[in-house]
Amino acid sequence: MSKRGRTDEVEEEERTPAAIFAARHLNNGVAPLFSLLDAGCQLYAHDDTARVAFCLQQLDFYNRKFTDWKKYVMFTDLHYTRNLVEDNDLLEVIVLCWSPGQVSRIHNHGQSDCYMVTLQGEVQEKRYNKFVDGKEVSETDSPVPIGENTPALTLLSEATINSKSYPVHIRDNQALHSVGNYTTEGAVTLHVYSPPIRRVKIFDNLVSERTPGFFSVHGRPTGKS
Ligand SMILES: [Fe+2]
Repeated sequence: MSKRGRTDEVEEEERTPAAIFAARHLNNGVAPLFSLLDAGCQLYAHDDTARVAFCLQQLDFYNRKFTDWKKYVMFTDLHYTRNLVEDNDLLEVIVLCWSPGQVSRIHNHGQSDCYMVTLQGEVQEKRYNKFVDGKEVSETDSPVPIGENTPALTLLSEATINSKSYPVHIRDNQALHSVGNYTTEGAVTLHVYSPPIRRVKIFDNLVSERTPGFFSVHGRPTGKS
């Protein structure tokens, strides 16, 4: 389904104006992608369906050139890293680097839209149910209070996401998920959160809440893990 890799072969008539603009302007780092997504989030602020479709389309047409994102690639043996590319009040763009075997815990997205594409290697996305005892786990007022045991979650789907996969979109009213690198090579993914994520719920043995931090900001390590 992805159009990546056929940028030069596809007749421009096949594309929407936004996709043509994206293909022409995404050759100079990730900043133009951020600008496009920012413009779309403003333009479609009150049209949820159009906004999601626009963001997915821009990410699909993004050419994912290594020179765009190499400065954000930072691996550690301890855990996967979150590397902030750009952010404002509407969205944030983050590069995540996954050493072999590194897996996120099951989490929600704090009522943000989450979009993801793979830049290098492949990751597995596992989606879990959002309902527990008939109530949504991921509502603001979670039926599972912080500090209590995480209820049994059901695996809904599992997908391999590589650089040719169509962009992923997930939000709290769809599912919880985890992402991980189950291969023997490093993987790099690009994530867009709108609005920026401030608090997420983690469904480990116990339900907890945390504010995600950054391993680097604008290509510079923060010194925090
Ligand atoms: Fe996530």
